[in-house]
Amino acid sequence: MHRYHRLGTIPPKRHITLRRADGLLHYEELIGNRGFSGPSSLLYHLYMPTAISSSEVVKEVKPEAEPNRDLRNRHFDTAKVECGPSLTRDRVPLLFNSDVTLSLARPTATDTAFARNGQADEMIYVAEGAGTLESAFGDIAYRQGDYVVVPRGIVHRFVLGQGPHRYLVFESGDYVRAPRRYRGDHGQLLEGAPYSERDFRLPENLRARDEKGSFGILVKAHDLLTRITLDHHPFDVVGWDGYYYPYAFSIHDFEPKVGRTHLPPPVHQTFEADGYVICSFCPRPYDFDKDAIPAPYAHTNAMSDEMIFYASATFMSRKDVSFGSITLHPDGLPHGPQPGRTEASVGAKWTDELAVMLDTFKPLQVAKGLLEAEHPSYWRSWV
Ligand SMILES: [Fe+2]
Repeated sequence: MHRYHRLGTIPPKRHITLRRADGLLHYEELIGNRGFSGPSSLLYHLYMPTAISSSEVVKEVKPEAEPNRDLRNRHFDTAKVECGPSLTRDRVPLLFNSDVTLSLARPTATDTAFARNGQADEMIYVAEGAGTLESAFGDIAYRQGDYVVVPRGIVHRFVLGQGPHRYLVFESGDYVRAPRRYRGDHGQLLEGAPYSERDFRLPENLRARDEKGSFGILVKAHDLLTRITLDHHPFDVVGWDGYYYPYAFSIHDFEPKVGRTHLPPPVHQTFEADGYVICSFCPRPYDFDKDAIPAPYAHTNAMSDEMIFYASATFMSRKDVSFGSITLHPDGLPHGPQPGRTEASVGAKWTDELAVMLDTFKPLQVAKGLLEAEHPSYWRSWV
């Protein structure tokens, strides 16, 4: 995140004593990315965060690519993808490259183990469901439409509330952030940005858990899930401060921009990371020139693969998409509105579309688990 935050009790300066009621020292921990050069936070634990008593590999979680790599525009129905009950263990990879992996999860029960992703930032788009993200930084309540961002290395647990739950999980090689052009020299979000600091929900309700016992954490690193065990509850933090913590942003708080004629996808950009961007297509008035064509022109995405997840059943330029559909328009081919959609958009005043777009700069591979969900004739739907 791009702003300083603090919760609980911390000492007046860094790296000095902070004593418990019994006189013992708290254990200070720095967590941040890019060595000591990226954003970081300092946490004050009741117990040693390094006291790992066991470690065992649970399973390999490397995505497997489809055997044949046909070049065509593609459409998948994620409702047909089978997922197991666990968010951490049973997410199913859909699309991936070396910068980002997109998976689907349909958890039905809160994981008993805690989770830590050591190889990627996680951004979870909550297509359906609600609950609370717990971590040593405090709690964040989440609901449908939220992007919940958990920077790498942070131990956390998604406590499931009202279901059903359908989550799109983006695992990011680089760290997820607001686009640079939205921020001023000092990191503040500028007036022209499509959201402000007030729209980002930060951890609250910090409670240091003083519990000894056996606490399992599933750690993802090297494309493996490893179960480590701590002898104390991992959320034993009495206070923290810094720039590195989980946060949530609702797609419903994204303020869309509208022009007299069509504006290109970068006006919908929500997040950036090296290698890709995330955009949000939200309900909005259409372009207001009397002759405007609100549907996009055909476009050839050179140096970019485009994935769109349809978070509602409406989308101006597509027919036959439904909630949960994914389209993949790869580099090397043009795509655009299907026959009739351009004409139908002329004179339209409003769209209720809701969609999440991932544009990658390197090609995406289709994972085996997505193949059965493919609409085989989509690529010919412009003919
Ligand atoms: Fe496109």
